[in-house]
Amino acid sequence: MYRETPHPIYLKDYRPPEFLIEQVELRFELDPEHTRVESRLALRRNPAATRGDGSLRLHGEQLTLMQVAIDGHALTPAEYRVDAEGLTMHRVPDRFTLETQVEIHPSLNTALEGLYQSGDMLCTQCEAEGFRRLTYFLDRPDVMARYTTTLVADRTRFPVLLSNGNPVARTDLEDGRHSVTWDDPFPKPSYLFALVAGDLRAVEDSFVTASGREIQLQIFVEPHNLDKCDHAMRSLKKAMRWDEERFGREYDLDIFMIVAVSHFNMGAMENKGLNIFNDKFVLARPDTATDVDFDGIESVIAHEYFHNWTGNRITCRDWFQLSLKEGFTVYRDQEFSADVGSRAVKRISDVRTLRAHQFPEDAGPLAHPVRPESYIEINNFYTTTVYDKGAEVVRMQAALLGPESFRRATDRYFERHDGQAVTTEDFVRCMEDASGRDLTQFRRWYEQAGTPELSIQSKYDATAGTYTLSVRQETAATPGQPVKYPFHIPLTIGLLGAEGQALPVWLAGESAPPAPGTRLLELTERAHEFTLVGLTERPVPSLLRGFSAPVRVRDDLSDADRMFLMAHDSDGFNRWDAAQTLHERLLLALTDDADHPIPEDYIAAFQRALRDPSADRALLAEVLTLPSETYLSDRMTVVDVDGLHRAHRQLTRCIGERLRADLLAVYHDSAETGDYVFSPEAVGRRALKNLALAYLVRAEDGEGLALCRAQFEAAHNMTDVMAALRLLTEQGGAAAEAALDAFHRRWAGESLVLDKWFAVQAAAPRADALTRVMALLHHPDYSARNPNRVRSLVSTFSNLNQVRFHAADGAGYRFLVGQVLELDPANPQLAARLLKPLVRWRRFDPERQRLMRTELERVLGSGELSSDVFEVVSKALA
Ligand code: TRP
Ligand code: ZN
Repeated sequence: MYRETPHPIYLKDYRPPEFLIEQVELRFELDPEHTRVESRLALRRNPAATRGDGSLRLHGEQLTLMQVAIDGHALTPAEYRVDAEGLTMHRVPDRFTLETQVEIHPSLNTALEGLYQSGDMLCTQCEAEGFRRLTYFLDRPDVMARYTTTLVADRTRFPVLLSNGNPVARTDLEDGRHSVTWDDPFPKPSYLFALVAGDLRAVEDSFVTASGREIQLQIFVEPHNLDKCDHAMRSLKKAMRWDEERFGREYDLDIFMIVAVSHFNMGAMENKGLNIFNDKFVLARPDTATDVDFDGIESVIAHEYFHNWTGNRITCRDWFQLSLKEGFTVYRDQEFSADVGSRAVKRISDVRTLRAHQFPEDAGPLAHPVRPESYIEINNFYTTTVYDKGAEVVRMQAALLGPESFRRATDRYFERHDGQAVTTEDFVRCMEDASGRDLTQFRRWYEQAGTPELSIQSKYDATAGTYTLSVRQETAATPGQPVKYPFHIPLTIGLLGAEGQALPVWLAGESAPPAPGTRLLELTERAHEFTLVGLTERPVPSLLRGFSAPVRVRDDLSDADRMFLMAHDSDGFNRWDAAQTLHERLLLALTDDADHPIPEDYIAAFQRALRDPSADRALLAEVLTLPSETYLSDRMTVVDVDGLHRAHRQLTRCIGERLRADLLAVYHDSAETGDYVFSPEAVGRRALKNLALAYLVRAEDGEGLALCRAQFEAAHNMTDVMAALRLLTEQGGAAAEAALDAFHRRWAGESLVLDKWFAVQAAAPRADALTRVMALLHHPDYSARNPNRVRSLVSTFSNLNQVRFHAADGAGYRFLVGQVLELDPANPQLAARLLKPLVRWRRFDPERQRLMRTELERVLGSGELSSDVFEVVSKALA
């Protein structure tokens, strides 16, 4: 909690650490109420740093210092000073051993940062700056050290004691306690330290690496969850193999452990050799988890595993470089999912996320570059810009270099920087060195915030046989960056002939045409003109294939062109994107005018798609999914909350009515046969089936409603159960209440399934949504101490139920701010994230703006805020 205005940290102020820590020895006497932490650090002056005043300052927060000694001599109070943020020793030698003893209180730690209690277990979360809540330390990622950790705890309450590296000693003590010592041979920054203590069981397996080493794999869970680990283990082994094949990266330690905990602020954490997971990204059984959950587990397990090379072996010099590990690791997990599943479907879902979350962030008051220049609270910078746009920035470099050259560049990166704490600049230099390309201008992607907009105009000249594309790029100003320079943008395009065949993209001046197909054009100026030759007919252009850059595109294609692309483009992503644009244009027109006609050829195009027997079902489901109301609101200058909702319902109902027979046919021939399988085909089939059901039910089709009730009763997999429950809940009435009650009774005690029960009610756009959400806050199963539960109710309502959250009376805003203020003292990270839907306040009509601003001001005026919430709210109002 701050009292004064917290001050920002600047990238330009970076200095190397004055001291290095060579060896860390830790001893934890674990107890939920009072844990004693003894630390012995081997410190030496950093030859690469400028000499200060001879003092040493260590980070430390919420620690009770019991003792501090240098080279075995206890310091007197005159020799050091303790404040709320650290320990200063006034005079220290150039090389010495520092011993400290502190006491901490895990059971009181509701922030879930540092050492905390989750259920009956104890665990840590140190990224970004949580290690300083365990002991006094140079808690910054450019201080890499070797750790030996001894854990001491009651043998019956905490039979399992885990930390990083390898177990090297176990002892039973006389007082009913036992101790385990762990040694991690790899130097690491403090944010990768972890420990876990609990009564846990492990699912075990093993993996033989490319070089023939056998790695022991363990997933630790509470005993009743042992039957929900198969998918996580399978995903882990797939990820390990893939990283060897695609990036030449082998695992280094002899054991790899995963622990699932039920109280966690984020998705998961890549601690060296001991990944700690939000249990939502580990536990799955076909009857408890949906396809989306299975998918999330596969990619988060992979993400954390991949961090072992991109993050752990090579880490960040400072937190401004966060995207060095996060952007690259997201890129790696996206590529993994694309390789083991469907590439086009994966790209579609990643771009959906980018457009729905990152584009609005980049256009709002919290816009920041992939490599930010300042922050108040680093926890606020684990953003979609750093993660997802960061991944796009790596993807663009891969595209510019081409696969062979990109692989050479990543090999070079791993070789050159292994064991170091480096910067995004070091990464880009490896790309340049391995390829011979100059990426000077490309670096702007790390430095400039904002989403570029490409305007593309086309002109066909029949006599000359030329097709000219005029491309302009423009990026709007963002906070602190009034002027934007042009980006280096890879623009991938293809041309289609009248039969849908690929035409060569032949640039004027080239002596011969290239093979027909996709071609990469590079934009570096504000405006370019590309003249394409050898065209005997006007081609249809397929622009930004595979979404080759994180940009918005404004083009001059007609609806007929888009229907043509939707039917014929060889690029699956662009077939989907053409459909999305058709939906979007129609929905925005309906928003403005409820009487806007729904064109026959639009309905016909989707009917043809539904009737195509060769269609990939997963892709078809994506094509038939309307853009969300939240996404559409980002496409309007002034968001028309109610108009969008009405338009969405109107078009949904129209599709459900007009395509009724086709939807029913699709539903029936997608029926589940046999046991649940998690494969791209099966997931696609279920997605299409449940989408068809949704259209029918939302059109209030009698047969559809009957099918929905039957599906809820009969389905054995959670994907189908939830799809039906969601639709029943939306419809409301006795059937909905009965289904919700039955579901609650069936799943009492299964925390992750109960999260779904809360979420489905929060998401239903019924008139009584907020009343219901507020009542659920008092449900015996609700707990403000469990972030998954809070998100399932509060965030689902404020992010996924746009029309009710933004109700004209402002009740949704008041509710959210009430929750934020209540949560902030306990868990600032969670509170700051909860506040996000309000930062877009300037995009709404004047009355809603006023209501939202009033609520933001209520936050700012409410006294002691965390630096997390303070930063979000003050920037939102700036
Ligand atoms: N590094 C984690 C990742 O894989 C992110 C993370 C987990 C995190 N827990 C956190 C970040 C707590 C900040 C605070 O992406
Ligand atoms: Zn990560």
